[in-house]
Amino acid sequence: MNIDLKLNDCLDGLKQINHQSIDAIITDPPYFCGMTHNGTKGTYSDLNMVKPFFKEVFKQWKRVLKANGEIYVFCDWRTYPLFYELLQEVLTIRNRITWDKISGAGCYYSYSHEDIIFCTNPSPQYKRYKKGQNVWRMPAFSSGAKKTNGEKVHPTQKPIELIEKLVLSATENEGDTVLDCFAGSGTTAVACKRLNRNFVGFEIQEKYYNIALERIKAVPS
Ligand SMILES: C[S@@+](CC[C@H](N)C(=O)[O-])C[C@H]1O[C@@H](n2cnc3c(N)ncnc32)[C@H](O)[C@@H]1O
Repeated sequence: MNIDLKLNDCLDGLKQINHQSIDAIITDPPYFCGMTHNGTKGTYSDLNMVKPFFKEVFKQWKRVLKANGEIYVFCDWRTYPLFYELLQEVLTIRNRITWDKISGAGCYYSYSHEDIIFCTNPSPQYKRYKKGQNVWRMPAFSSGAKKTNGEKVHPTQKPIELIEKLVLSATENEGDTVLDCFAGSGTTAVACKRLNRNFVGFEIQEKYYNIALERIKAVPS
């Protein structure tokens, strides 16, 4: 088993990955909303700034994913339209999983769910039918995940239980390789180590890269 996390921009890192070498991509990109521009709050149209970046990233995903591989991309209600539009240009979108986080912040109704876009290569060889429903109810940090995950070390850290469920759904065998382009505190890498999957991933911020390395080291080999 090999856990390979690099301190790098994923777009540069992706270009070094071999063609059709990845069994699954499980990733949680930054949401980019709420950014400020000239002192004003970010709006929907600001997402256009990141369109060329994601367009290129998704093209690379298609290139590195095996014919029967699977992709799971986190998003929220603001980034869903952008990701959907760009993903469906190069990949086949199969479903949208809703993660019911049980509780969340927000004063115009609370943000208590996130979405996970499930897609694959548009390959006729892909026929891995899925049982189960597309709503997954599992506590986030604000609704109980601290009990099993410990203190939160990244602002958008995902619970390990959720990522392990995705790793087990997306890969068929131990030794399969999972890619996470936006590793954050390394939850996908930790899940892969616990489940004997190979991992390759990127994190651009040194602070979170180091936190992720510590978390990976803490998992017994
Ligand atoms: C939503 S967070 C991921 C959190 C992660 N799921 C966890 O459980 O900790 C997204 C991460 O992507 C990183 N990031 C943003 N742009 C990046 C890029 N171009 N290449 C690699 N990482 C990037 C951010 O620094 C941030 O830590």
